[in-house]
Parts: sequence; structure tokens; C-alpha cells
Amino acid sequence: MSLTPQSVLLDREEIRGKVAEMARSIEGRHHHPDPLLVVTVLRGAVIFASDLMRELRLPLSVEFVAVESYGTSTRSSGIVNITRDVTEDLDGRHVLLVEDIVDTGLTLRYLQSHLLGKKPASLEVAVLLDKISHRQVDVTVDYTGFVIPDVFVVGYGLDYSGLYRNLPDLMILGEDVS
Ligand code: PRP
Repeated sequence: MSLTPQSVLLDREEIRGKVAEMARSIEGRHHHPDPLLVVTVLRGAVIFASDLMRELRLPLSVEFVAVESYGTSTRSSGIVNITRDVTEDLDGRHVLLVEDIVDTGLTLRYLQSHLLGKKPASLEVAVLLDKISHRQVDVTVDYTGFVIPDVFVVGYGLDYSGLYRNLPDLMILGEDVS
């Protein structure tokens, strides 16, 4: 039996509404004249980040950071390998780190510490999905979309073996019984 998307957890309209709500919250807290630097974590966050950025009525620029998918050993150690770092100077910038999902919190904790080392004026975090029941380490999230149950989700940027990122709804992966 193979694993395929089985049912919708969050449909595109629910997601669209939440992303707009998050954008309004972010705008409400950014009154400085400098452009926001949106740092998107590859690859899963690209869909969320592109929708969020198009909702934001703020001057902003775009950056990317890529982290290596970790195996079991790195998951437990919390060491995350950055395979593509930001290229812009973060010193004095207002940075918004954008993630699709926080699970154990290990990736986010590592990235926050890594980016803070670059001396931004501020660093905030926006996460669409929070699987809070899996948390292993405390992390600060400034803007959260949805707290979701302990299910494997795909779509809206999230993958299973590289597939399903392009599904417009967030779906629960399960055994295909057909
Ligand atoms: C996902 C997600 C986060 C990380 C969260 O990335 O995008 O980066 O896992 O998990 P954690 O809280 O347990 O650290 P994934 O490794 O699936 O890579 P991808 O973004 O390329 O799909």
C-alpha cells in the first residue's frame, strides 16, 4: 500500500484567509521606514511565503536560506546543516523569518540563533503550521497560522518524498486502500 493525500485538513480558502490575517498582524507591528527583509526557508515555505508577501502592504525584499533535511541523528542532536545561507548583510535590518511548519522546533531554533548572529535590528518569525505536540525545544514564534494535530500533512508547499508541494489545499497523507 502506498501513501497518498487522503483528505483535506485546511482548504485553500481557509489558508488564504489566515495568510491575510497574518499579514495584517505583521503590518500592525512594523512602523519603521526601512524595508522588511523576508527570509524564506527552502523548500517547504516557498508557497506560504509567496502568498504572504503578496498580502503584505509593506516595502520588503526577499532572501532565502536552505537547510539540509536531517536524518535521525541530527534530528536528535538539533544540528541543522545550512546548505544555502542568506547573501545580504543582515546587520541593522528588520528580518521576518518565514517557515511552513514547526515540529520539534530544532530547525527553527538553529535558524534563529544563526540569523541573530548576523546582528539584525529585529528578527521575527512567521509560521503557517504548528505541530505543537511534537515540540522538543522551546522556540519563539511571533505569528502562527494554525496549530495542527499530529498528522502527516502535504500540499501548500509541504512534501512527501518531494511530491505534493503543488497541491493548493493542505491534505492529510494516508494509506491508499484502492
Ligand atoms: C520542514 C519544515 C521545517 C522543519 C521543521 O522541513 O520546513 O524546516 O521541517 O521541523 P522541526 O521543527 O522538527 O525542525 P523539511 O525538512 O521537511 O524540508 P523542506 O522544507 O525542504 O520540505
